[in-house]
Amino acid sequence: MAPLFACGLLLLSLLQKEVQSTKHNKTVTAHSTNGNGYFMYFAYASNLLKERLRLNSPSAVFNSTGKIKGYALKFGLWGELMENETAWQGGVATIKEQKDSEVWGVVWKISSEDRRNLDKQEGVDRGLYRPLEVNVNTTYGEILCHAYQMNNFTSKLASPQYKQVICMGAEQNGLPPDYIRELHALETNNNNSTSMLNTIFAAKHREKIPSHVGQP
Ligand SMILES: *[C@@H]1O[C@H](CO)[C@@H](O)[C@H](O)[C@H]1NC(C)=O
Ligand SMILES: *[C@@H]1O[C@H](CO)[C@@H](O)[C@H](O)[C@H]1NC(C)=O
Ligand SMILES: *[C@@H]1O[C@H](CO)[C@@H](O)[C@H](O)[C@H]1NC(C)=O
Ligand SMILES: *[C@@H]1O[C@H](CO)[C@@H](O)[C@H](O)[C@H]1NC(C)=O
Ligand SMILES: *[C@@H]1O[C@H](CO)[C@@H](O)[C@H](O)[C@H]1NC(C)=O
Ligand SMILES: *[C@@H]1O[C@H](CO)[C@@H](O)[C@H](O)[C@H]1NC(C)=O
Ligand SMILES: *[C@@H]1O[C@H](CO)[C@@H](O)[C@H](O)[C@H]1NC(C)=O
Repeated sequence: MAPLFACGLLLLSLLQKEVQSTKHNKTVTAHSTNGNGYFMYFAYASNLLKERLRLNSPSAVFNSTGKIKGYALKFGLWGELMENETAWQGGVATIKEQKDSEVWGVVWKISSEDRRNLDKQEGVDRGLYRPLEVNVNTTYGEILCHAYQMNNFTSKLASPQYKQVICMGAEQNGLPPDYIRELHALETNNNNSTSMLNTIFAAKHREKIPSHVGQP
């Protein structure tokens, strides 16, 4: 049990993927921009998990759960033959415009200082994800948040490990039970390759996470 849990936490460290903020939209409010030294970020996949998000964004503080309308949660890659760009042995998450759909996630308040590392984690510089802004429906009303969306999406099933990290994050932050059930029901590619786990454990012993660990 303990080793399994440790595996889970380590997996978390790998993951990432979500969102972040910038400030192109006129509708951005003071609370959504980084003009105040922080930004609001909407996480919907591995960054749901606090430990994973804080690897590169140690200042992240939970604000609320919330949902975005007009998007669906999808899994895929940046092209058919791009598995070498991910450490997750399968498709990774993105949000795709889709009428009548919604995606739940967590709104995190993050210091502007962490933003560059979050962008890097999401592979923005490599063209893997692009930042965008989304209106998140929360108990505090609508909060304009930064998020990430995959470029050149090609559908691909996620690995069991990746799905596990997402489910852990969803449970940790109290997303709605019905939505968590949907996450648990996601089909995976059954690829249980442990290479990533080995990498993580090795990294832990060195007290240093290799740069490729935690890529989307
Ligand atoms: C979450 O953010 C909203 C909008 O900025 C704010 O009104 C609210 O107080 C925040 N809640 C917490 C717990 O930080
Ligand atoms: C997008 O992915 C498709 C399918 O793999 C590929 O043929 C195409 O070259 C990719 N386009 C870009 C801009 O990467
Ligand atoms: C992954 O493969 C693609 C296509 O062969 C290549 O362009 C890219 O540089 C590779 N990426 C890495 C990180 O090796
Ligand atoms: C599982 O994923 C690894 C890493 O991406 C890949 O090398 C391997 O071929 C995959 N195994 C199967 C059965 O798809
Ligand atoms: C900016 O806000 C407008 C009005 O709410 C919206 O239509 C547009 O999609 C937003 N742009 C981005 C990049 O989010
Ligand atoms: C936010 O969600 C609540 C509960 O589902 C709903 O009643 C409300 O209309 C939503 N607000 C917006 C602006 O979508
Ligand atoms: C991968 O692990 C899952 C869960 O333990 C198991 O159900 C599945 O059969 C495994 N797949 C393979 C190909 O071994």
